[in-house]
Amino acid sequence: MNAEESLHLEHLMFVEEPMEPGEPRVHAAWLPPEAFRSLGARRVLVHGDGLLVDTVLNEVSRACARYGGRVWHSPSWDVDVDLVLALRGADELPSPAVQAARSAAEAALTEIGGEPLGDEGFLLARDGEVTVVLADAPAGLLYGLFHVVRLCAAAFDPARPPEHHRPALRRRMLDHWDNVAVHPVMGQVERGYAGGSIFWQDGRPRGDLARVREYGRLLAASGVNAISVNNVNVARTEALLLTDRLGDVAEIADVLRPYNIRVHLSITFAAPAVLGGLSTADPLDEAVRVWWAATTRRVYERIPDFGGYLVKADSEGQPGPFTYGRDHADGANVLAEALAPLGGVVHWRAFVYNHHQDWRDRSTDRARAAYDHFAPLDGRFRTNVVVQVKFGPVDFQTREPVSPVIAAMPATRLAVELQVTQEYTGQQRHVCHLGLWWGEVLRFAPWGPGGRTVADIAAGESGAGGGLVAVANVGDDLFWTGHPLAQANLYTFGRLAWDPRLDPRAVLDEWIALTFPPSATAEPELVGRTLHEIMDDSWRTYERYTAPLGVGFMVNPGDHYGPGVDGYEYTRWGTYHFADRDGVGVDRSRASGTGFAGQYPPYWAQVYESPQSCPDELLLFFHHVPYGHVLHSGSTVIQHIYDTHFAGVEEVVAMRRRWQTLNGMIDPAVYERVAERLDEQVRCATEWRDQINTYFYRKSGVPDERGRTIH
Ligand code: GCU
Repeated sequence: MNAEESLHLEHLMFVEEPMEPGEPRVHAAWLPPEAFRSLGARRVLVHGDGLLVDTVLNEVSRACARYGGRVWHSPSWDVDVDLVLALRGADELPSPAVQAARSAAEAALTEIGGEPLGDEGFLLARDGEVTVVLADAPAGLLYGLFHVVRLCAAAFDPARPPEHHRPALRRRMLDHWDNVAVHPVMGQVERGYAGGSIFWQDGRPRGDLARVREYGRLLAASGVNAISVNNVNVARTEALLLTDRLGDVAEIADVLRPYNIRVHLSITFAAPAVLGGLSTADPLDEAVRVWWAATTRRVYERIPDFGGYLVKADSEGQPGPFTYGRDHADGANVLAEALAPLGGVVHWRAFVYNHHQDWRDRSTDRARAAYDHFAPLDGRFRTNVVVQVKFGPVDFQTREPVSPVIAAMPATRLAVELQVTQEYTGQQRHVCHLGLWWGEVLRFAPWGPGGRTVADIAAGESGAGGGLVAVANVGDDLFWTGHPLAQANLYTFGRLAWDPRLDPRAVLDEWIALTFPPSATAEPELVGRTLHEIMDDSWRTYERYTAPLGVGFMVNPGDHYGPGVDGYEYTRWGTYHFADRDGVGVDRSRASGTGFAGQYPPYWAQVYESPQSCPDELLLFFHHVPYGHVLHSGSTVIQHIYDTHFAGVEEVVAMRRRWQTLNGMIDPAVYERVAERLDEQVRCATEWRDQINTYFYRKSGVPDERGRTIH
């Protein structure tokens, strides 16, 4: 192909997707055109066939058209190239230099012991002047491409040693809590803080598939490979997605398929009755089994690569097997049986507890519930059931211990569920970068230091684990996530799900370099440093000015935003702090409390059992202690509360000051949006500080030893 022909190919690539000369429709997040500059200025050869190879070709073509590079798809003539992206099984090419580079990369792969690369892995190696990306399967090529984008010029560094990458976790999934019909209380997106849904609007598909496609691109570049498209609380309209409205789900699946993202669906356990007209949804009833099998077959006829079902059963009012005297294994298995021949999985959530608790009853402990329900069922779930466990025993709090369920079901595939949407961490009005927190959770070793980690369990033996899941944080907002800096949480989730060993700070560096490309940023070092200063410690800052020492909640009931110290204290939800004039915290020890500490393997059971060995940050989760109790830090509990709340607000004020130094250096729209939100964060953090400090001062009567203002 001569230059003219190659341009013609490039031109064709743009027929569907013209380069907009004007402003972007929505913020480009971590894939602005500028992030493709280095790639787009090169001569690139793509070799292989298939839907995902076309995606790679399309991405490269767009970049090259913009930045003056060139692209060839499996050319039948000799070409000189800078980058080869090739499937390993693809034919020989009549280009000696390209063939030599491929062979050199193969040799490098053998040398570093990286074979095979698997369904999604890839190798990146240099041979002379050429960078080669090899993959066994098209998805690997797609992830390899985004790796090149991330590396920028470093991908073309002659001294770069060969590297191979494979995802540690097979399924890296985002759960959208999006409603199809607007819920009277929860709205369009339950716990959504970024506007409406990108999928649904007022009972119908939103109709902006271009945006869904753009979302798929962003997710692919972060490593996510599965989403569920509707809320786990399934109401009437949403239930119909499984049957009458399946076409709406299929449309989304069609758009996401080129980005290697499989679509899953939240279903109601009562579907055989509410949709199928049966008199029961009893999982052991033959007609129910037949109904699930037939319904599931129809799903696969329409969506051949459908991922499977996500189920919240017998939880917070959702129907489930308990109605029929069956247990969760019975419930999950009937769905698993229907999905198994078609290659699907059931994600069955372990978030099950009594949400009609009497606050006077001190023996019932919500933290115990998931373990009490699920641990006895270990070994009873079919192999295509994934029990999806919230990372903590209560509910996505800013600080919780890791759920003991994660260590309690060795014969079950487990997925760990995080919350990217910031329900309890500032609702995308506060900067709260969660990477460090997730890193801690994923590295936690439930059997004691040096043992297997949470990430190991989610990965499973030979990759057979249930993976990592998170509740999504995007909406139809201009910046996707409401708070532009909350994009980093979404990106970080994908990257940690791909490789939980990554340093969250290094991941933040990647996000900064992609989102604020140095080549288009006036003072990239200053911008990068300032963003790190604002974001790195922001989760701990948030923790400092909210509920202390792991006690949790203390939020306003309902919307969960802002301080409400006693908001849940006398409710049915099982989230209490038990503060009185002498002390605060929940006794979950075996010796004198609810026994929850005993749900852990011996190492942690012992550590958590006593206030002397329990880590400070979880003290009030496990123990009720006097205000004068001395922490490992040397401070008393009451003084710690005062100190951290004063410090937290000062840190937020400093964040705002730092942000102001970026005025004029970055996209003004991003600047303004963040500035606005930081004002709210300062206001809200101040409110938290004053309510918490005042509350505990009034309860305890102990003054601040530094004499600061407490109201
Ligand atoms: C939290 C959240 C609910 C959600 C639930 C869940 O309790 O507040 O809105 O439905 O978690 O995880 O199912």
